[in-house]
Formats: sequence, C-alpha cells, structure tokens
Amino acid sequence: MFQFFRRLIYLFLFIYFPARSFTQSTYSQIDPFSYNIIKKTECRKGAVVSAHPLASAVGADILKKGGNAFDAAIATQFALAVVYPAAGNIGGGGFMVARTAKGKNIAIDFREKAPEKASRNMYLDSNGNAQTNLSQNGHLAAGVPGTVAGIFEELKYARLPIRKLIQPAIDLAEKGFALTASEARSLNASQNEFKKYNTVFPVFVRSTPWKAGDTLVQKDLAKTLILIRDSGSKGFYEGETAQLITDEMKRGNGIISLDDLKNYTAKQREAVAFKYKTDFTIVTMPLPASGGVLLPQMMRMIEDQPLKTYGFESVREVHLMVEVERLAYADRAKFLGDKDYFKVPAKFLWSYPYVMQRMRLYDPEKAGNSKDIKGGDTAPESEETTHFSVYDKDGNAVAITTTLNGGYGCKTVVAGAGFFLNNEMDDFSVKPGVPNMYGAVGGEANAIAPGKRMLSSMTPTIVLKNEKPFLVFGTPGGTTITTSVFQTLVDILELNMSPEDAVNKPKFHHQWLPDLIYVEKDFPQDIRLGLEKMGYQISQRDAIGRTELIQIDSTGKITAIGDKRGDDTAVGY
Ligand code: DON
Repeated sequence: MFQFFRRLIYLFLFIYFPARSFTQSTYSQIDPFSYNIIKKTECRKGAVVSAHPLASAVGADILKKGGNAFDAAIATQFALAVVYPAAGNIGGGGFMVARTAKGKNIAIDFREKAPEKASRNMYLDSNGNAQTNLSQNGHLAAGVPGTVAGIFEELKYARLPIRKLIQPAIDLAEKGFALTASEARSLNASQNEFKKYNTVFPVFVRSTPWKAGDTLVQKDLAKTLILIRDSGSKGFYEGETAQLITDEMKRGNGIISLDDLKNYTAKQREAVAFKYKTDFTIVTMPLPASGGVLLPQMMRMIEDQPLKTYGFESVREVHLMVEVERLAYADRAKFLGDKDYFKVPAKFLWSYPYVMQRMRLYDPEKAGNSKDIKGGDTAPESEETTHFSVYDKDGNAVAITTTLNGGYGCKTVVAGAGFFLNNEMDDFSVKPGVPNMYGAVGGEANAIAPGKRMLSSMTPTIVLKNEKPFLVFGTPGGTTITTSVFQTLVDILELNMSPEDAVNKPKFHHQWLPDLIYVEKDFPQDIRLGLEKMGYQISQRDAIGRTELIQIDSTGKITAIGDKRGDDTAVGY
C-alpha cells in the first residue's frame, strides 16, 4: 500500500516538475519513474555526466558500489542504449579515451566498418549522382556495429563482471522507465520515418503521441542484452542476434552479412597526446577520429596568440578561431580518412613547422575565404551522438563518445532484437565534393572500401594538468564536435572560464565549406554585426553540441557539468 502511494506521489511530481534543473552535491537513489535532471554536481569521490539522468545515476551507483571508472562507463553505456535510443546504442559505434590512475593513456576504436559488400560507388545512381537518401536512411546506410565489441575491450580495465554492469540496462528495458518531455517530443517527430524504414513496427511507433511520464518498455532489447550478458560479445556478433540482424538486412536491401559481424573487432590505438604550453597535456582520439589531427593542429595554431587580450567571443577572438577552423577543416577534407586504408600524414599535419606555415595564411585584420584556402599541399611523401565522462576515486578518467550518426541512426530497428542500426556509411565521402549530412566534404582519403572505417569528428578528450586529470569531456554535434572541443579548451585553458560557462555559453563553428560562421541563437548580436562588417557570412543554427564535462581541481574537488542544451545530468558522490 505504502509503495502504491509512494509511486503515486512520484508520478505527480514527475508530471508537474519534469526536467527540473538544479545543482546537487550528493547522490540519491535511482527510480526509473521519478528522477531529476541535475546540471551541476560538486563532490570529492567520483562522478558521471551523460545525456540522460538515469544513465548517469546507473554509472554513479556502480562507482559507489566499488566499480572503477571503466565499470561505470560500461554500465552507463548500456543504460544509454535503453533510456536514450536516439543516440545511446548497441547498433552503432564510437571511441573511448581514458587515463588510468597509474598514468597510462588508452584509446579504444569501436567505429563501425563498411560491410564486405560495400563499394566505392554504392550510393551513386546510373548517372553518377549521389543518392544520399540511401547513405542516410534505411538498411543500406548501416555500417557494421562496433559498440558491443568496444564494451568488451573496455571490460579489460574494469573490476566488476559484465553481468553486474549490464543488469541495470536489462531492468530498464524489461520493466520500462518514464520518458522525459524532450524524449517524447523527439520520438513523436520521427514517427513517419520509423514507419517508412521498418517493415516490422518497433515499440517506438505509437498511434497516439508520446508524452512526458509515459513508460517505455523494450522487451526485445532486454532479450538481446540478456544474450550479451550470458554469451559475451558472441551474444551480439554471432547466434540469434546476428541472425536477426541479417534477416533484417534482407527485408530492406541491406548488405551486412554474418561474416561481417563475426569478423568485427574493436581496436586499441595509440592515444594522441600533445603538450599545450607548460602545464597541460591534451590526450585525445587518433584517426579515424579527425579530432586526433585537427585538435592538435588548431591548439598549436593559437598557442602563441593573445587570446586573453582579445577576450571571450570578441570579434578578434572569433575571427582568429574561425580562420584556424577553416584551415584545419580544409586539411580534413583533403587528407583525413582511415589510416589502415589510406596513407595519412597525421603527425606531419600537426607538426609545428607545418602549422606555422599554414598560419601565414591568417590575416588578423581580414576575413579569410574558403575559395582561396585549400588543404595544405606540402604533405610529405612518406543531430545524434552522445558523449559521457566518468571520473573515479582512484583517479581513473574515461571519456566516451558514441553514435548512431543521425538521430535514431538509419531509423531501422532490428526486428526481434529491439535496437536501432546506425547510418554511419554517410560519414564516408560518397562522392568527392558531395557534402554528407553535416555538410562535410571529402575525397580519396575517405572513399568507401570494404572493411574500412569512415572518418569521424568525435573527439573524446582528457586534459592533464601537471600530469594529473584536470578535464574529462567531449560532445556530440557532427562536424561541430571538434570545434566545440577546441572552443571549450580555449575557454578554460586560455580564458580561465568556469566549467559551467565553458559548457553553456554560446558556441560558434566554421568548417571551411560551406564558408559560413554558424552561431547559436544567444551568440552576442554586436559581435555578430562586427564579424559581418569584416565580411563574414553568419548563419544562426540550432544548439551546437551537448558538452559533458568533469573538472578536477588541484585540491581534488570534482565539478561535473551537464550541458544546458538537453536532459544531460551530472551525478557524483
Ligand atoms: O562520427 C561522426 O563524426 C558523426 N557520425 C557524429 C554524428 C553526431 O555527432 C550527431 N550528433 N548530433
């Protein structure tokens, strides 16, 4: 009886105070039908910040029960696959960057791969025109998923058994959880696409609109998670789940085969680590994540510039950062792709001599022009993704960005298995010069080839101050990811901004082509006018990214910030 009334009170509170945002300093019990959105948490032991309150709570609970940051990251990742189906996933891929308490950098690449039957011109019609509807929607858009293989690679650094880490996700899928208002809105906005790209309608399709507080139960997904719990990664890449994926492929002209699944492996790579000024070391993901080249390039381009004198979002500061972004993104289009398939002069591109030479093209008084700026020619011979950050009491730090690419990926759910497949094939250059869904162009380096990984913008990043974790962060946002990470670094390392402001203040972005500065709607109007006067074209757009950031100060105080732009929540203890 008491339970019943408690639920009733919670339901009442949820309906009347959905998505409340506040600061919290302690951790509280998880109830999937009543939970809070917490934007800022200050604590001393450990913290998790992710795009969904329940996923953050699940991760923090694992930390409290003696798990380390890797345990918490795995539990959060599985929980996101249930409570945040637009981007949290087991049908997609991503990257992990970590720093262990013992001082080791780790980079795990679980990016999707092109299936063996993929070919360079698979998205061109008989006249050679790009059909981006096929690279972006439905079965043919899906790359071979990497997330589950990635999680089992992460497990090598964890303390607890997988069954403990996956169980909260199984429970959330089996018994359900209450949708937030923004999730309900997002599911409603995609109903037509869910119907168009599925022959067997998934649980997300409903005849009446979803609303905040509705319970979402995902029995098929629970079954798949149980197979993973009991059989490890084979529970996904072989047996019943693999069969369901290939059956689904057949219903919609997809090409992922049983062999593609069985042969998928996540890869440990050497993390990119570079010094910034005397105190900082920045650790980030190497290719096929483009941030591993663009971030060191851009940071080195601004290292000796007077950003502090210019000030936050002044005309001069934005001008400098935009020109740096233009130069970096021109190189991205020309040089970057999967290094296992195409020779990329990665280290050369962020070497000081090359960076200095590129900066000769920057005129502090004049707006640049993408027609005149091309990718460097001195190379030597030789809206949906999600990020979460975890820090534990021993000093392990984990940053993971994972994605289905677009919101709900290719919009196709594997019938009987209950999860969305990605539309990551669109991150390849389907034809030289044809923009992908984020407007990025590419060529030979990022052309489609069987087994190849498509180029990514995802940039999970850890900053060390005097060799100790200082920032653990990252963001979704397609091509804006790398520039948002760049902007956050400038704001904190150069302008001494608070972590809260660095996450929430207006963002801007330039990516060479199109030749525009994108700004969020709260970008200062007078600066916008000043930039227009210099000759820039400005375009206002929706929210840029959702940065999830943990800062650890020299006394050990942890500040975790969930981005104001969504349901993002920081939980710690
Ligand atoms: O890997 C990439 O660069 C893209 N697939 C990321 C997509 C993304 O961030 C969408 N989020 N809003």
